[in-house]
Amino acid sequence: MSAPVPSDHDDAVAGLATNLLAEGLETVRRAPPGVLVVFGASGDLTHRKLLPALESLSRRRLLPAAFAMIGVARTEMSDDGFRDVMASAVPDAGPGWAEIIKNSVYITGEYAHPDTFDALQRRLRELDESVGTGGNRTYYLATVPDVFGEVAQALGKVGLNQPTEGGTARLVIEKPFGRDRETARQLDSTLHSVFDEDQIYRIDHYLGKETVQNVLALRFANAIFEPLWNRNYIDHVQVTVAETVGVEKRGSFYEKAGALRDIVQNHVMQVLSLTLMEPPGSVDAEGIRGEKVKALRSVVVPEHSAVPNIAVRAQYDSGWVEGNAVPGYRQEEGVSRDSETETYVALKLAVDNWRWAGVPIYVRTGKRLPKRVTEVSLQFKEVPHLAFPKEAARGLHPNALVVRVQPDEGVTLRFGAKVPGQAFVVRDVLMDFSYGAAFLEAPPDAYERLLLDAMAGDPTLFIRSDEVDTAWGIVQPLLEVWADGGAPLAGYGAGSWGPRPADALLERDGRKWRTP
Ligand code: BG6
Repeated sequence: MSAPVPSDHDDAVAGLATNLLAEGLETVRRAPPGVLVVFGASGDLTHRKLLPALESLSRRRLLPAAFAMIGVARTEMSDDGFRDVMASAVPDAGPGWAEIIKNSVYITGEYAHPDTFDALQRRLRELDESVGTGGNRTYYLATVPDVFGEVAQALGKVGLNQPTEGGTARLVIEKPFGRDRETARQLDSTLHSVFDEDQIYRIDHYLGKETVQNVLALRFANAIFEPLWNRNYIDHVQVTVAETVGVEKRGSFYEKAGALRDIVQNHVMQVLSLTLMEPPGSVDAEGIRGEKVKALRSVVVPEHSAVPNIAVRAQYDSGWVEGNAVPGYRQEEGVSRDSETETYVALKLAVDNWRWAGVPIYVRTGKRLPKRVTEVSLQFKEVPHLAFPKEAARGLHPNALVVRVQPDEGVTLRFGAKVPGQAFVVRDVLMDFSYGAAFLEAPPDAYERLLLDAMAGDPTLFIRSDEVDTAWGIVQPLLEVWADGGAPLAGYGAGSWGPRPADALLERDGRKWRTP
């Protein structure tokens, strides 16, 4: 059968005009015809993130008409049942969504069972025929992490790891990628026994966030920041990933993860690598990923004996968040009453390279903190000599450049100004860039960008094998020392900014955490 002729839907793609396009600033990337196979299709991630992201891509006409989804999961469901799930995930869907739903099918099956993959092979062939998906397949592993390896191997057994002639075969893999360096290496070698590295797309959804990518724009599209972006001007860096939520319904998962694995090894390391990296030769996969790995390799891997001095782990007690009384971590569903899992980490890292030597990097992340905020703050050195009397400069602090990743996305520069009046008093003022005000469009969800890039074959915003390994290497000593009971678990009240030892970590260096 010949490929279907382009539809109105495809024609309309050409007419896509966002406000950026109207300014000629964006070249549109569209997914080619293809099938997105989602393993774990009956799960929460599919419902909450993947289906809405796909629908939004279709509404923005970035998916072709020749597109289908195959859901695979253990939950018993018919094709129509799955289509109902697709419809219910996006109540106000645009017109293209119905077409995609119509094309999509579901396979009930065990993840390692050959029948599942025989059925998959058959249905992929059918879709290539009936919808014209051209042999392009993206396999998305949204299952529990335990089965990542076996699904990849089962795909290999029936040859679905190999691209069909003229087609593509890519594997998108969710976090967590291993639970430590060793298990991550094992998973990697299993994946590599079936897929080549350039077929593997490891997700960290932080990289799909516009504001995380904006760190690159801020640094490398401007002449004025980069000359200051080093040890000559920067006193220290603070990275904060704060959440108001607790562990929600994920208690049993979180018990085995903890904040270090859940946030620091991946999201924090990603934000950090973009902050620390050298300018790439070009903004493409090779250039960016190469420099990110180099930056992470310069982060000093903590000595085991140093861990108690540079890291704080803590767990939330009951308290108040945003006006609501909330239970302590040990009272959460699925959590052991004597759990030792950390929900908060504070950490001091050092970077051994020309640009950053001597500049401490302080990281903190936690659940049940007072405010949902992710930011990177570059705190500049003090002026060499303050010419104003102390009392006239009481409200003055060293300059700071804060990249606000979320919410209220933007960038703030803090600097001193004279307070109007007869006296010469100076204090801090803020110069603020806000995404909402500068651009008319709300940024797309991170999953939209990442799904599109994976289907279009751009690995820039995905994590390379050596990068995952380097990131695990940095946190590995902490995992080991903590597993051996070598660090006390502090407590903090829900709704506070964390435990006392985390403040002490900075106070010892004569510094303080910012209050975002
Ligand atoms: C996930 C973690 O990777 O990131 C969650 O597993 C966390 O525990 C979430 O809540 C935070 O993502 P975001 O996009 O809300 O900052």
